[in-house]
Amino acid sequence: MAQDLDRRSFLKQSGAAALMSAPLATTARGANDKVNIGWIGVGTRGNAALDWLNKAAGGKVMVTAICDTFTGYIARGKDRVQTIYGNTPATYKDYRELLADKSIDAVIIMTPEHLHHSMTIAALEAGKHVYIEKPLAHTIEEGAEILKAWKKSGKIVQVGTQNRSSSLYKKAKEMVQQGMIGDCHYVRAFWYRNSAPNNPAWRYVIPKDANEQNTDWEKFLGPARKRAFDLRRYYQWRLYWDYSGGISTDLLVHQTDITNFVLDKTVPLTCVASGGVYRWTDANDDREVPDCLSAIYDYSDRFHLNYSCYFGNDHYGYGEQFCGNEGTIEVLNRQDLYFTPQLLKGAAPPEVKARQQVHLNGMKDFGENDGAINHIRNFIHAVLGQEKVIAPPDIGQQAAISGHMATVSFKTGRRVQWDTRAEKLRTL
Ligand SMILES: NC(=O)c1ccc[n+]([C@@H]2O[C@H](COP(=O)([O-])OP(=O)(O)OC[C@H]3O[C@@H](n4cnc5c(N)ncnc54)[C@H](O)[C@@H]3O)[C@@H](O)[C@H]2O)c1
Repeated sequence: MAQDLDRRSFLKQSGAAALMSAPLATTARGANDKVNIGWIGVGTRGNAALDWLNKAAGGKVMVTAICDTFTGYIARGKDRVQTIYGNTPATYKDYRELLADKSIDAVIIMTPEHLHHSMTIAALEAGKHVYIEKPLAHTIEEGAEILKAWKKSGKIVQVGTQNRSSSLYKKAKEMVQQGMIGDCHYVRAFWYRNSAPNNPAWRYVIPKDANEQNTDWEKFLGPARKRAFDLRRYYQWRLYWDYSGGISTDLLVHQTDITNFVLDKTVPLTCVASGGVYRWTDANDDREVPDCLSAIYDYSDRFHLNYSCYFGNDHYGYGEQFCGNEGTIEVLNRQDLYFTPQLLKGAAPPEVKARQQVHLNGMKDFGENDGAINHIRNFIHAVLGQEKVIAPPDIGQQAAISGHMATVSFKTGRRVQWDTRAEKLRTL
């Protein structure tokens, strides 16, 4: 592995301020002259992303190790690495053993939310660059500790809010900067889903052969409160507060994050959230997180974000509507961008009237399903010292804070306020 550039002298050369938000130019090469990746969590997203990494940076990376606590997924992941990359990865049940392998340059962590904090910090302390899935962490305090560890480490960290790497959203940002929608004080963001009665939201399929012997319940629980083995919690962790913030940290953070990106915002000032379990109420369904949630955010600079999510009707899909006084940009289902000028029944100024409607399609115009492959490529290029990551931990923390604000407001039934100076949430 090549030596990292001396961080201090690099900071001097390049200006500390820019770098503190995104460390750059550490280089890494495995003995095989590729970035050696250790992969922690090869479940639903991890298994799919093994392939995305190859599409993003095949030839520059090697997945030399995988770690998971379900033997079925370890076997599947190993097989997939052999098929995609042609090598046989080392396999682990304990991520600390994977981290002890000095030949690993970077780790990709795709495990449940409550494990992000301990795994990311341990990886940084072991000298690895880290791609950590969103949300950055399970609580605001955990996120702050990751930020500290990251700054101390000088390593590259990319948070998995991949919309930032999507060409459609980059286009939306460009259009806002060009003034196409005028002043924007209001965004509506929403995520609607529905499914058949026998397929409740987030009750993902539990592998038929999974049991207490071929999973590792203690390792799954990690820092979470101890309780008896429960397959539903293990595979459907999003439905329980101990492991997830539900809608707030699973879906909403993507949308507050991309609003921040497109409009150059950071953390909201206040949030009030409301909702409940309204659709998936079967007596045998012990879900804790709401299936219906609305959250209203006010930022300190006359900006309002109106968020809603419901798992009982998907007619409107998901997306964000950036509402300016001169036009609207909508990005829908991560696939379509529409720009529509505000014509005001003919009363709009001539320069606004002259603006043409725009429709861009992610697949047709950019060959992109969403930003995931670009986002992973950006991480690898950053590890190689060629780019800055677009979603470093401070950015990931800003998005996560808005998610946690919604959770705290929902749970307490109170409006909450973010105190930027104290870096603390207060209930009002
Ligand atoms: N960016 C996105 O759009 C997006 C989409 C989906 C999921 N995600 C994120 O990806 C992460 C994983 O989500 P998922 O849907 O793949 O969940 P999943 O439950 O399908 O996969 C999690 C995997 O982690 C493994 N695991 C659990 N405890 C472990 C431990 N202690 N050590 C090693 N492995 C362990 C499980 O066995 C499982 O294979 C989450 O953070 C989620 O929020 C992001």
